[in-house]
Amino acid sequence: MKVGIIGAGRIGGGIARQLARAGHDVTVSFSQYGTPQPPEGQTAAQFNSLRMAGSRYTKSFNTLTAAFQAEAATRKGDDKVVQWICGDDAGAKALVSALVEDAGFVPVDFGPTATCAPMEAPQRDGAVYGEEYRARDAAAVVDAVRSGRPIPPTPVYS
Ligand SMILES: NC(=O)c1ccc[n+]([C@@H]2O[C@H](COP(=O)([O-])OP(=O)(O)OC[C@H]3O[C@@H](n4cnc5c(N)ncnc54)[C@H](OP(=O)(O)O)[C@@H]3O)[C@@H](O)[C@H]2O)c1
Repeated sequence: MKVGIIGAGRIGGGIARQLARAGHDVTVSFSQYGTPQPPEGQTAAQFNSLRMAGSRYTKSFNTLTAAFQAEAATRKGDDKVVQWICGDDAGAKALVSALVEDAGFVPVDFGPTATCAPMEAPQRDGAVYGEEYRARDAAAVVDAVRSGRPIPPTPVYS
């Protein structure tokens, strides 16, 4: 697939390397896109999707540090790490899920952009941002978010 990455910093550069390793045709560009903040009550994903009229916005690769992602991308089997995905277009999420798998992670659909606040900074109780998850612990999180319950305590892996 042809993949364009805006911003070849730590996160963008790491994903570019992981997808290039998987055989994708990756093009990287420097900065061209402003960074205003969302209003109170709106997630950054919801805000950014509205800024990109006509696009099929999907958010992922944002909850873990670039250094951790570089280390975790080569894990196998049950040790593989979850990359949460949110968005309002099922087809786009399916496409990004395949890229997440190719990059070496387990894609898990967190739901629509309106309810993805636990995916977004800062790291805090009741959020998945900044926390490692494996596939076996992901379903309980998604179930809690979809039913409006607090997400279960963050798992600890040895
Ligand atoms: N680093 C992490 O561990 C981590 C973890 C989770 C989430 N994040 C988030 O991921 C994002 C990138 O972080 P990073 O650590 O990769 O940052 P970084 O290494 O400082 O890289 C930032 C990249 O964004 C580009 N950029 C800056 N301003 C831009 C603009 N207005 N429009 C388009 N591109 C712009 C820069 O391009 P130029 O080089 O041309 O200036 C650079 O390539 C941030 O939102 C950060 O909060 C980072």
